Amino acid sequence: EAIEKGGYDHFMLKEIFEQPRSIADSMRGRVNSEEGTLQLGGLSDYMDKLAEAKRIIIVGCGTSWHAGLVAEYVFEELARIPVEVEYASEFRYRNPIINPDDFVIAISQSGETADTLAAIQLAKSKGATIFGVCNVVGSSIARETHAGAYTHAGPEIGVASTKAFTAQVTVLTQMAIAIAHKRGSITEELYQQLLLDLSAIPQKVGQVLKAADRIKEIAYIFTYARNFIYLGRGLNFPVALEGALKLKEISYIHAEGYPAAEMKHGPIALIDEDMPVVFIATKDSSYEKIVSNIQEVKARKGRVIAIVTEGDELIPNMVDFVIEVPETHDILIPLLSSIPLQLLSYYVAVMRGRNVDQPRNLAKSVTVE
Ligand code: AGP
Repeated sequence: EAIEKGGYDHFMLKEIFEQPRSIADSMRGRVNSEEGTLQLGGLSDYMDKLAEAKRIIIVGCGTSWHAGLVAEYVFEELARIPVEVEYASEFRYRNPIINPDDFVIAISQSGETADTLAAIQLAKSKGATIFGVCNVVGSSIARETHAGAYTHAGPEIGVASTKAFTAQVTVLTQMAIAIAHKRGSITEELYQQLLLDLSAIPQKVGQVLKAADRIKEIAYIFTYARNFIYLGRGLNFPVALEGALKLKEISYIHAEGYPAAEMKHGPIALIDEDMPVVFIATKDSSYEKIVSNIQEVKARKGRVIAIVTEGDELIPNMVDFVIEVPETHDILIPLLSSIPLQLLSYYVAVMRGRNVDQPRNLAKSVTVE
């Protein structure tokens, strides 16, 4: 087992550090930024139909559902197709309205999650076209779908999903870019720029990982926190949900993720000097709004850890701790901003003596309801 962990203490840490490679693998043979092309072989037969799509429904559970929420923003922004994201477990039991011209994307690392499988069987019986975004080749969900794109992240052993999440987001982003290009909803110039920015992500993830020691120090300070709040806006809202889920599942600390603007509708009552608040506050279109959300928390003495864009000179002066991520195109930010949150939850859990790779009560794939 020590050999399989490749010198890391846990599979989870190894998988976090594998992300420059796993993200590159999820683009290999697909994105060619030098030639300015993007090909998703599995979807090529459907591209004409997808260009006319009226609606996309995304289903998944847990972290895969979070990847779906990121995809909702990206598809709507680039391809201008309405997207609904559903928990597979809710979708399958609420007599959903599914039309034969709907496209359903099922996201699943294992490809074996019972609720996700049942959701696609339901959608299929109503005539929808189903695509899979799975990591495990030949899995039940991969076989049940009409077509799809594998994430190619390699085996993920740690129960807490890390590299599978970033690979899912990378594949879904490629789908959105390809469909947007086909539909003509983005300019050729933006298309080329996105391919270049996407190709630069693995190297930028490598840069984020260099902050591991600093994140470890921050984790040490908050080891005994009883609660955590994660706040983000726009594309960083699903990142906040994912950061909170990661912390809960491996450290057993209660954590909640919220869209930052929702704070004043309730959660702000929780803020005091004992409440760590993680803001995902990169420089994007919601930057100024999130700066004022940080002020609201600091005014109530909350302790703030902020994920910011390299070179930010404002937020570091307002908060207790900052972790920088490199600049990228707005729609790619989750691929960078999610990484420090994985490391933060990992180090907190290790310092609390938790069984990081196999947390209590959890299974890697949930094959029963
Ligand atoms: C993530 O860290 C979880 N362990 C869990 O939420 C997981 O993402 C969920 O069970 C879905 O699994 P799948 O991607 O294999 O379908």
